[in-house]
Parts: sequence; structure tokens; C-alpha cells
Amino acid sequence: MTRIFSGVKPTGHLTLGNYLGAMRRWAETDQHRADALFCVVDLHALTVDRDPARVRRLSRQAATLLLAVGLDPERCTLFAQSHVDEHTRLAYLMECTASDGEMRRMIQYKEKAAREQARGGSVRLSLLTYPALMAADVLAYGTDEVPVGEDQAQHMELARDLAVRFNQRYGMTFVVPRATLPAVAARVMDLQEPTSKMGKSHVRTAGIVYLLDEPEAVRKKVSRAVTDAGRDVVYDRAERPGVANLLDVLAACTGGDPEALAGDYASYGALKKDTAEAVVELLRPVRERHAELAADPGYVDAVLRSGAERARGMARPRVDAAYQAVGLMPAG
Ligand code: TYM
Repeated sequence: MTRIFSGVKPTGHLTLGNYLGAMRRWAETDQHRADALFCVVDLHALTVDRDPARVRRLSRQAATLLLAVGLDPERCTLFAQSHVDEHTRLAYLMECTASDGEMRRMIQYKEKAAREQARGGSVRLSLLTYPALMAADVLAYGTDEVPVGEDQAQHMELARDLAVRFNQRYGMTFVVPRATLPAVAARVMDLQEPTSKMGKSHVRTAGIVYLLDEPEAVRKKVSRAVTDAGRDVVYDRAERPGVANLLDVLAACTGGDPEALAGDYASYGALKKDTAEAVVELLRPVRERHAELAADPGYVDAVLRSGAERARGMARPRVDAAYQAVGLMPAG
């Protein structure tokens, strides 16, 4: 059976980008067609300085939201990365497989390191080595497919390279995974800055739709979305990124095709109105279910506990095999 692994980082409130790019598919199709694991990758939240109480709160909220979007603990394994030691055990071997140069080429590292430096802060070493941990997350489980948004494609290419290199050096140990991207909305853009990704940890929030935003907040953000010069509604990601983004979001919400949808609209106003309502309706059940689940933290804890136990059992043999393959002595 196909093995699927994916994760979300608790570095901010989860966004419409996370949902359309990744989480929605996990719930609607992936957990039904494969042996799937979904992870709150909390260790990845520590690559920049964060308040511990906030890390804890956002991690719990992310787990609760994963259940709220429809992940079913009877159908998939849902857990927190820090509860399964195999991730960090294997990350070290991935650091021993990767080169310094390939880590420094990662776009997200370059962007985030530049941002930290501009703020006068120091760059944590873990920001550079992050993709080694991400590769470990995936490779520990013999993963075939990794459903992610487009921004993770480069990290996934690296994970593939590391798997191939390790297998060549030490013998066949890892499955070489592949990223799967959604047909539409693989990169949802910020509504205020449609040439940048809608990112949960961005400081300016007016262009970010959060999964837990109230309907009025969603309507306000969409109605104030930056559009482009011109009046006619055409789908052109390069020349009209703001309008193309709205069409992508609308198409993803309604199951349509963005180019075809463009023909249905004579004005930006009408497009914004329909997009806002489509997003409000898409998020309504998620918000409602989240409120129910948040009232029962004991349930969320129990799901994470049994998920971690199951995940540990799946990862352990492969990570042990990797340790032995590189020449470390068996422990037992
Ligand atoms: P993260 O937490 O930034 O995002 C979680 C998922 O949401 C997707 N995504 C988007 N898709 C479309 N448009 C957007 N604006 C948008 N923003 C986010 C991401 O592509 C991702 O699929 N490094 C990962 C977390 C991770 C991981 C893993 C993922 C760690 N280990 C192993 C898969 C497998 C990250 O930062 O995702």
C-alpha cells in the first residue's frame, strides 16, 4: 500500500494556503487511499526564537485543526514530531549525507536567514540544517508520496537526492519519495502582496486568511485584496497576479478551472464577492468542528499519544537499519 507522509509547522495560525495547498487533500483523498501519516512538525518551529508558551499553544491548535479539517485517527496516523525520537536520530545521518553547499542553496534558508540578519538577529544553525530534518521526517517511514504545496518542492528534491545518495553509499535503505502538488492553488499568494506566498508567520496579516478567521474578517480581507491595473477579468499569473490568485482560490473552493472561471466575471468586485463567499463556506465547517474539538483537549492528547506510538513502531526498524548501514554498532 502507498505510504504517505506530510506535516505542518506550528509557526503561526494555519492559513487558507496550508489548507488548499496541502491539508484539504490529506483529509479528502490521501487518508482514504493510502497508509498515511500526518505530523505537527513542532521541532521545525524552533529554527527561530519563539516564545515557548506560543509554540505549545500553536502546536495544540495545529493538531486540533488537523482533526477539524477531517483527518480521522481511525484512518491515518496523526502525531507530533517531537514525540517520536526517530526523526532527530535520522536527521543526524541526513546531515552526514548532505553537503554544506546544497543546504545553503535552499531558497527558504536564503530568504529567512536574510530576514533574521536584517532584524539584527543571529541565524540559528537549525535554520540551515532544517531540510535534513525534513528529509528524515519523510524517509523514516518509507514514504512514497508527500502531498505538499509548491513552496516545499525544493526541500523535497533534496530529500530525494539524500535518499538516493544514502542508498548508493550504504545499500538500499530508503524509498525515494516524490512530492505531489494540488492541481490548483499549489501556491496561494498573499492578498495584499500577490507576488509573495501567503505565509502563516508573516508579520503583516491583512493579506492572510487564517482558517479560524470569522466570516466578516474573511470578507474584509478578500474585498481589500490588491488587484491589478486593468478592469477585465483574465487569468494571467505573470501579468495579473492579484486577479489570478483570486481565481485560483475561487477555483480551488468550488472545484472549477481558474481560466474558465475568468470568463464568468465582468468586474473585479463581483469576483471578490464570490471568492469571499466561497472561502467563508469552505471554512465554516472547519471552524465549527475546531470549536467542538478545542473544548475537549483530552481527546486531542489521546489521539496524539496513540499516533506517536504507532509512528514510532513504523519508523524504528528503518532508522535502526540506517544506523547499522553506516557502520554504527547495534545497541542490543
Ligand atoms: P508549512 O508548515 O509551511 O506548510 C504546511 C503545508 O502547507 C503548504 N503551504 C501552502 N500551499 C499553498 N499555498 C501556500 N501559500 C502555502 N503555504 C503553505 C506547504 O507547502 C506545506 O505542504 N517544511 C514544511 C513542513 C514539513 C514537512 C515535512 C512537510 C516538515 N517536514 C515532511 C512534508 C513532509 C513546512 O514548512 O510546511
